[in-house]
Amino acid sequence: MFSAKVISAALLSFATLVSSHYTFPSLIANGVVTGAWADVRQTNNYQSNAPVTDVTSADFRCYNSAFPNLHPGTATVSAGSTIGFQASQAVYHPGVVNVYMAKAPSNVTNWDGSGAVWFKVYQISAVTNGGSTITFPAQNALSYSFPIPKATPSGQYLVRIEQIALHAASTFQGAQFYISCGQINVTGGGSGTPGPLVSIPGVYTGNEPGILINIYYPVPATYTQPGPAVWSG
Ligand SMILES: *[C@@H]1O[C@H](CO)[C@@H](O)[C@H](O)[C@H]1NC(C)=O
Ligand SMILES: *[C@@H]1O[C@H](CO)[C@@H](O)[C@H](O)[C@H]1NC(C)=O
Repeated sequence: MFSAKVISAALLSFATLVSSHYTFPSLIANGVVTGAWADVRQTNNYQSNAPVTDVTSADFRCYNSAFPNLHPGTATVSAGSTIGFQASQAVYHPGVVNVYMAKAPSNVTNWDGSGAVWFKVYQISAVTNGGSTITFPAQNALSYSFPIPKATPSGQYLVRIEQIALHAASTFQGAQFYISCGQINVTGGGSGTPGPLVSIPGVYTGNEPGILINIYYPVPATYTQPGPAVWSG
């Protein structure tokens, strides 16, 4: 017989496990981790940590429909510098990462990011070797850092991270998207033309081979990162 104490400890750790997904509440800008939701739009799941699973929902963009009037600050960063997102805890689900940016017409604060305005600046894919193993270099990291291409025109941008957790992705809408949008003011920029441009939502249907996938059996021989190519300037 298990004692009541052992059983309740087991239940508690199970509850912790199932409820302890994660969010991306902080930017890393100029080498500093900003406060939670200081330069990132507070997401609907800031307490629940629950993912988005419908890639066509309005919340697939910035996941902040519950807080339309909550405006964070905007971090000023120079083109060519490295910025990042920090998670609320290590990103333990196996999966991949994409980071997109979109230039606001002027002030980013009240801009919704609609239209074909998003380009990809960074990705961390899966590593395969023809079917014997699949590994996820983005797994168990607390933060992800990436350069803002030097050729990015100066101005205010939304920068959106998505970590696509693939542990339950073998059924439609089983992939879990952990999303945040930060606000940045890019200075010292160039005259590049970022692209290809996509709409979010709109960029995915949910049927992509990198989103609707069984990562366990048979072990995928290859992995196709969802979304457009990375623009590096
Ligand atoms: C942007 O808009 C917000 C909200 O209206 C305002 O508080 C802020 O001062 C504006 N920033 C700039 C640089 O105009
Ligand atoms: C963006 O940076 C420029 C140059 O430093 C500055 O003049 C402007 O006030 C900044 N805007 C915001 C919204 O931080």
